[in-house]
Amino acid sequence: PHEKTIFSGIQPTGVPHLGNYLGALREWVRLQNDNATDTKLIFSIVDLHALTVPQDASRLRQWRREAFATLLAIGLDPNRSTIFYQSAVSAHAELMWILSTVASMGYLSRMTQWKSKLKLPEDTGLEDSAAKSKLRLGLFSYPVLQAADILIHRATHVPVGEDQKQHIEFTRYTANSFNHLYGPIFPSPEALISPARRVMSLKEPNQKMSKSHPDDRSRILLTDSPEDIRKKIKLALTDSEPSISYDPVRRPGVSNLLEILCHMQSKPMSCEEVALEHRSTSIRALKELVADTLVDHLSGIRDRYFSLIQNQSDYVDSVAEAGAQAARANAESTMKTVRAAMGL
Ligand code: ADP
Ligand code: NA
Repeated sequence: PHEKTIFSGIQPTGVPHLGNYLGALREWVRLQNDNATDTKLIFSIVDLHALTVPQDASRLRQWRREAFATLLAIGLDPNRSTIFYQSAVSAHAELMWILSTVASMGYLSRMTQWKSKLKLPEDTGLEDSAAKSKLRLGLFSYPVLQAADILIHRATHVPVGEDQKQHIEFTRYTANSFNHLYGPIFPSPEALISPARRVMSLKEPNQKMSKSHPDDRSRILLTDSPEDIRKKIKLALTDSEPSISYDPVRRPGVSNLLEILCHMQSKPMSCEEVALEHRSTSIRALKELVADTLVDHLSGIRDRYFSLIQNQSDYVDSVAEAGAQAARANAESTMKTVRAAMGL
């Protein structure tokens, strides 16, 4: 009975990288272009989530606009998709409070991302209260905000990278807890995991490519110049075996390059197939091929991005305003039902 609704978000913490793109953003565009027009599409720059770590205000302001321009540059169409800043729709925060009255503390403390944050440098362990007191409540509770983001739009499908799977499961669990107490208001949203499940760091291919890695040569940004792309791919950590094979456990660096390559093919190909096709290619030539493919694929996005940022900031702001209005209306209709069900 719930109308098909696709929701996803990205944090405004710098220009998105290739992992964000292949793991999430490119799927958003694909879903936009492949779904019938009665599917609702809602995408958010989740700026409240960015506050779980301290932010400089003027830098955050810039990052928000850059993230917004990126979503337009990759091909999200504001006539088809609602695109908005999370903080412009205050009902997200209101629903977060309401969900936090049903959300399980135990479930939240088992979240991988929280547990990884608990491992402070001195490795003080879970029970050290001094270590815990350095951590902020928002870092612990942000999956509840994420659940609110999804549920306030009654989303049925959430396209994300694999790292977010656990959070979507938490959202389903929390929605069910709420529905059990107050009636069947929320759908049980389903994660749509991208075929490019995890793009790895170019420098430490056992870790996912991420915005927070200190070495910026570990990630390709959507705004990287062709020279940057070629340099970073050339410096990517691989191994010294003579041939090419796909073996993520034993050969994570080479396999990551093959992953990038196979997910950029115009016709779908498995990474094993791509590996076979290139089995007698040198690693150096494989890197050149990966770099060429990336340069080709990303140059249009990069051009559109710079044009939006440099010459069309009024346009970006007007799309954001229209998106906020549409998102507010959608969120408010959910909140009416929620408040009524709870006696508010
Ligand atoms: P980050 O993890 O770099 O801070 P976000 O948390 O804003 O980025 O994530 C935005 C989207 O990008 C999420 O759907 C997430 O699953 C996806 N994503 C992030 N890093 C990767 C990666 N290395 N590979 C695949 N998908 C990723
Ligand atoms: Na993430």
